[in-house]
Amino acid sequence: MWTAPIIPHIAIPTTAGTGSEATDVTIITNTATDVKMMIKHPAFMPTIAIVDPYLTCSAPPPVIAATGVDALCHAVEAFLSRKAHPMTHTLARSAITHITSSLQRSYDDPHDLDAKEGMCIGSLQAGMAFSNASVTLVHGMSRPIGALFHVPHGISNA
Ligand SMILES: [Fe+2]
Repeated sequence: MWTAPIIPHIAIPTTAGTGSEATDVTIITNTATDVKMMIKHPAFMPTIAIVDPYLTCSAPPPVIAATGVDALCHAVEAFLSRKAHPMTHTLARSAITHITSSLQRSYDDPHDLDAKEGMCIGSLQAGMAFSNASVTLVHGMSRPIGALFHVPHGISNA
C-alpha cells in the first residue's frame, strides 16, 4: 500500500500520442535485458496537464505518425476493452473522430494548428479513455516488439 505523499508534477506533452498527461502509467525499459516494464500507480497521475498544440509543431513527421497511431490505438482499444463503459465509450469515440480527421493533416503540414489541436484533443481523450477502460492485446503484444527490436511504440502497435 502506498503511504508516501504523492509528489505533484505537471505534464506538458510535446507529441500528440501517449496520453501520458491523463494516465497513471509509466514505461521503463531495461536496456540491459531488453525488458519493457509498465508501471501503473496513482503517483504517476499528473497534478496538472498543460496541453498546447503549438508545442507539438516541432515534432518530425515520423514521430507525428508513430505517436498519432499510438493515440488511435489507445482510443480503439479503450472502446473495445471489456472494461469499457459509457463514459469511456464517449471519450474513445470522440478521440477516434478527432484523430482520424486530423492525423494526415498534422503529418502533411507541421504548422496546421487546427490539425495539431485535433490531435491534442484526440490524444488527451484517448488517454482518459484507456486510463479508465484499459487497452487490449495490441498494446500487450506491442511492448515486447518495441523492447526486443527497438521499434517505436506507435509503429509496433500498427
Ligand atoms: Fe500506447
